[in-house]
Amino acid sequence: MIITRSTVDSLVIAAEKKNGMTTFGISDILENLVRRQSVGDRMNHIHSEVQTQFGNSPDYYAASQVHGEGDTLAVIVEFAQPSGTERVLDIATGTGFAAFAVAPNVAHVTATDLTYGMLAKARELASERGLSNIEFHVAAAESLPFAAASFDIVTCRIAPHHFQDVTAFLSESYRVLRPSGLFCVIDTVCPESERLIQWQNRVEKLRDASHVWAYPPSQWRKMIGETGFKIERESQSKNAEIQFSWWTQRETKSPELVKQIRSAFEGLSAQEGAIYDIRRDGDELYFAWPMYSVQARKPVE
Ligand SMILES: C[S@@+](CC[C@H](N)C(=O)[O-])C[C@H]1O[C@@H](n2cnc3c(N)ncnc32)[C@H](O)[C@@H]1O
Repeated sequence: MIITRSTVDSLVIAAEKKNGMTTFGISDILENLVRRQSVGDRMNHIHSEVQTQFGNSPDYYAASQVHGEGDTLAVIVEFAQPSGTERVLDIATGTGFAAFAVAPNVAHVTATDLTYGMLAKARELASERGLSNIEFHVAAAESLPFAAASFDIVTCRIAPHHFQDVTAFLSESYRVLRPSGLFCVIDTVCPESERLIQWQNRVEKLRDASHVWAYPPSQWRKMIGETGFKIERESQSKNAEIQFSWWTQRETKSPELVKQIRSAFEGLSAQEGAIYDIRRDGDELYFAWPMYSVQARKPVE
């Protein structure tokens, strides 16, 4: 078996059991490792990019307005339709914004992420906010270490564009949801234009090596439907306005790359720029990515 960074993270987190970080047992960990191995080595490269990227900057994310604000936090609670009794799984929880929005309205939240440092920060923030019904596990979205039908609701916000295998994420979400459970996903998406799909993903990838692919809403609908879910509601919005210099300062490796990204923005037509709400203030540039939110139900078979 290949020992990857995520393997080590799983073992580390098990060792931290006494801190209340996880309820994993050894058999859970072994099952998780076997699942991960079967997903294949292809995943290891991007998972390690994600862990480097996010593991270095939990404080940056915890303070990020792009992730901590915007109406999609309210949307995820609205789409989850909590009555107070549910067991929720929040996938790729990051520093926990979606999990914290949902937790006061449900019985229990299991928050997972590939990156140990993000979970550690989320746990610290949950404790500061007095949220005691959330537990944290290291887990890849593509191979969840939970039994079938263990959750009433699965949520995932602003993360699938980092997943190597969105189809595996969707089928794992389907598997761990009980029949008639709700699946609520919110992610950055591209406009329905082949040119802008290529443009946006190229720009994101130039800036952040852990970016995999942002899909247009039509592709999300197709993939969710093919998994077996029935889409019940959806909405489209924009994320909080992003300042270009802030956005490129942390992830982007060199000034040359920042120039390339800037010139990609300058190359958009006025009509395309309007789709991204681009505005300029002196040398600074501001924009917003389109967001897609969906509520889908696992049918009763
Ligand atoms: C932008 S943050 C998440 C934001 C968070 N869901 C929220 O609502 O604020 C993206 C997170 O996805 C996690 N991630 C990326 N790829 C993953 C994968 N394949 N499985 C699980 N987590 C992943 C990263 O470690 C990171 O913490």
